[in-house]
Amino acid sequence: MKLFLDTADLTQINQGVLWGVSGVTTNPTLVAAEGTGDYQSLVVAICAAVPDEVSAEVTVEGAADIVTQGREIASWHQNVIVKVPCTPDGFEACKQLSGEGIRVNMTLCFSASQALLAALCGAYFISPFIGRLDDLGQDGLGLISEIMDIYHKGSFQTRVLAASIRHPLHVLRVASLGVYAATIPFKVLEQLTKHPLTDIGITRFLADWRSRGVAT
Ligand code: E4P
Repeated sequence: MKLFLDTADLTQINQGVLWGVSGVTTNPTLVAAEGTGDYQSLVVAICAAVPDEVSAEVTVEGAADIVTQGREIASWHQNVIVKVPCTPDGFEACKQLSGEGIRVNMTLCFSASQALLAALCGAYFISPFIGRLDDLGQDGLGLISEIMDIYHKGSFQTRVLAASIRHPLHVLRVASLGVYAATIPFKVLEQLTKHPLTDIGITRFLADWRSRGVAT
């Protein structure tokens, strides 16, 4: 499983790469958090920072406008994936863009039926949102499992990109379900790097080493 960062913050992305991150997902909320700079410049800079796919979302509605903006976003960099919401217009735009060879990430997926349609429309990625379902008392991981089963049995090529991840256990569960990638906030990435017993172990090792009373 690949690890992507769910952020548009280049400082976080550069650190993430040093910890094994290979791709990035953005959304309008995350891009807005970086200020009012040029959208294209930011996405191109992110593409230069990671080796794998970078998702950039459309900011318009209506199938025709999504297709027009999707073509534009796809032209920014060879690693850009056009992110399109799972709506009736979004599926229509996905089919059109995919037919033109443009890779689409169908986002805001909350049901297996949306994931099925995304695959039938040729999506490159499907992004089921685990955390937002859990927040409603629904089973986000159960949705990932159902989609994996449907895609496997139907021999669909669409890759599952587990999104809206809230904690390290989500990461481990989606890894064991066999998703292509998990996109995670920087805070969760930091949590993956740490364990209190590691810190305690290092403190003890170094104290014992220094007790020898000789220079290293
Ligand atoms: C993924 O593509 C989305 O940008 C993201 O995972 C949404 O996560 P959130 O529910 O924490 O906003």
